[in-house]
Amino acid sequence: MENMNYNLLLKQIESLTATESNLIANLANTTSILHDELKVLWTGFYFVENDELVLGPFQGPVACTRIGFGKGVCGKSWESEELVCVDDVHKFPGHIACSSRANSEIVIPIKKNGKVTLVLDIDSEDYARFNSNDISGLQAICSYLETII
Ligand code: SME
Repeated sequence: MENMNYNLLLKQIESLTATESNLIANLANTTSILHDELKVLWTGFYFVENDELVLGPFQGPVACTRIGFGKGVCGKSWESEELVCVDDVHKFPGHIACSSRANSEIVIPIKKNGKVTLVLDIDSEDYARFNSNDISGLQAICSYLETII
């Protein structure tokens, strides 16, 4: 698979969100751009709410609404405050299978004032779908989102 042009994706996301102040609207359009361009199974955000992650805007099949701290790939990313990229989710201890079709996954924490306030989660039916280009590109998009949340 050819590497995605994340500079272009970031520009698209910036131009759609720069003049809009509503967070849900901005995250909803961000999921749409990422999901359409990456052609993955599921793309969405979870918000940190007390001791749980709660489902936010997403594209794809129905997903779990709440995930505990440290649970699944999303909870681990929240707990470690680090990007977690999993080539084979079936080998990830505690992975939460919202869809049986998901085989690889990437989760990126997004911080406000130094605290994780939401995570971006992307699931793919392909194994090892996310390479170093995806990791750096998605990280750059999440760094941008940190400036608008
Ligand atoms: N697989 C995730 C749960 C969220 S869904 O994939 C949308 C996890 O293990 O945290």
